[in-house]
Amino acid sequence: MSKKVSGFSKLNKTQKIDWLIQNCFYGDATFKAILLSYWNSNSKLQQLHDEFIENTISNFYLPFAIAPNFLINERLFTIPMVIEESSVVAAASNAAKFWLDRGGFKAEVLSTTKNGQVHFNFFGDKQKLIAFFKIVKPTLFKSIEDFEKNMKKRGGGLLNIELIDKNSKLPGYYQLHCTFETADAMGANFINSCLEQFAKTFKKEALLFSDFSQSEKEIDVVMSILSNYVPECLVRAEVSCKVDKLTTPEFDGHYFAEKFIRAIEIAHVEPRRAVTHNKGIMNGLDAVVLATGNDFRAIEAGVHAFASRTGHYSSLTNAEIHGDTFRFWIEIPLAIGTVGGLTSLHPLVKVALGILQYPNAKELMQIMAVTGLAQNFAAVKSLITTGIQEGHMKMHLMNILNQLNASSDEKEKAIVYFQHTTVSHTAAISYIESLRK
Ligand code: MEV
Repeated sequence: MSKKVSGFSKLNKTQKIDWLIQNCFYGDATFKAILLSYWNSNSKLQQLHDEFIENTISNFYLPFAIAPNFLINERLFTIPMVIEESSVVAAASNAAKFWLDRGGFKAEVLSTTKNGQVHFNFFGDKQKLIAFFKIVKPTLFKSIEDFEKNMKKRGGGLLNIELIDKNSKLPGYYQLHCTFETADAMGANFINSCLEQFAKTFKKEALLFSDFSQSEKEIDVVMSILSNYVPECLVRAEVSCKVDKLTTPEFDGHYFAEKFIRAIEIAHVEPRRAVTHNKGIMNGLDAVVLATGNDFRAIEAGVHAFASRTGHYSSLTNAEIHGDTFRFWIEIPLAIGTVGGLTSLHPLVKVALGILQYPNAKELMQIMAVTGLAQNFAAVKSLITTGIQEGHMKMHLMNILNQLNASSDEKEKAIVYFQHTTVSHTAAISYIESLRK
């Protein structure tokens, strides 16, 4: 059990670690050594990371990998991926290679509008509120002119403000529903600053609106915040080819296409499958979101809400055979940025964006959607053919060998041995034990 502490954030890093060792590890300094071993010897770089968040004690590494051979809209990309799950990058690369020989991926951005709300209570006369909103709307637009300047230069800004009556859901609940274009920025700070300003201006102007009674004048703002539900910020990615072209030495194209479509149909009707199906999509997508310094929690929340938009949680991907052509596609909401936030701060994010040839936000939306689609293709392809464990355990073998403290020589031998033997934890232990005898 940890102890209550006050003024903790004022301690320096070493003091924080010492406190931790005393309070959570009964004074065992081995844990201090582990934490220190992850500090970067470049003190400037370390300081940069320390200052991203509060109470930093060390760095937490995740592997940074690349998946080559992604042909997207006739351009070849190498995709940076940050993820810990062993088989994800290999699966993405396989899918990229599979589609490279079949015309590659096509992607397009369908819309880029983001949104946020000022949520407020109003228990007075709705008609008066509507009249007030009409009058105050230009003032609201004007109130953000200063911080909109930069955004406007980059082609973004406020698009519209609507008064929405939500009384049918919650008595007295209204909102100012505001829509924005944020160009290459994710725009969270811009949107939230605008919303907070709208709330202030709205309240102030209401006090001066003579048609309101005294109680109506005192509009009660509950909160002002952007929404991570962005169904108007949509990207679509797709692959297609003649069904015959799907034939490989392992399977017949027609059989594969039919079974693939059946798997997608199951993910459409069965939420238990849909969640895992979509998790597979997010394996690829999140890895690019992380590598490019975007907010994976926002993306996750928005994507899964979108997957439930009909009131039924369902697959994010679709597949069909039309005539003699197999088509597989995804439509997904992605509010991301290539400027601002971590994109300009984290040196590895700059590298990731460099690997992608410095895309703008629309291009990055396309790349992310393609990676999600590729990942889903790879997963479903494995599931309906060999099963996923074969590939998964092959990739996981290295983790097991590391757990067993295998030497380089033992690892090399094990990799050769398990090329033709089913990998399991037990099998790996007995193989290493047999080597060590
Ligand atoms: C594992 O991380 C992801 C999969 O389960 C996805 C799927 O089942 O489609 C393989």
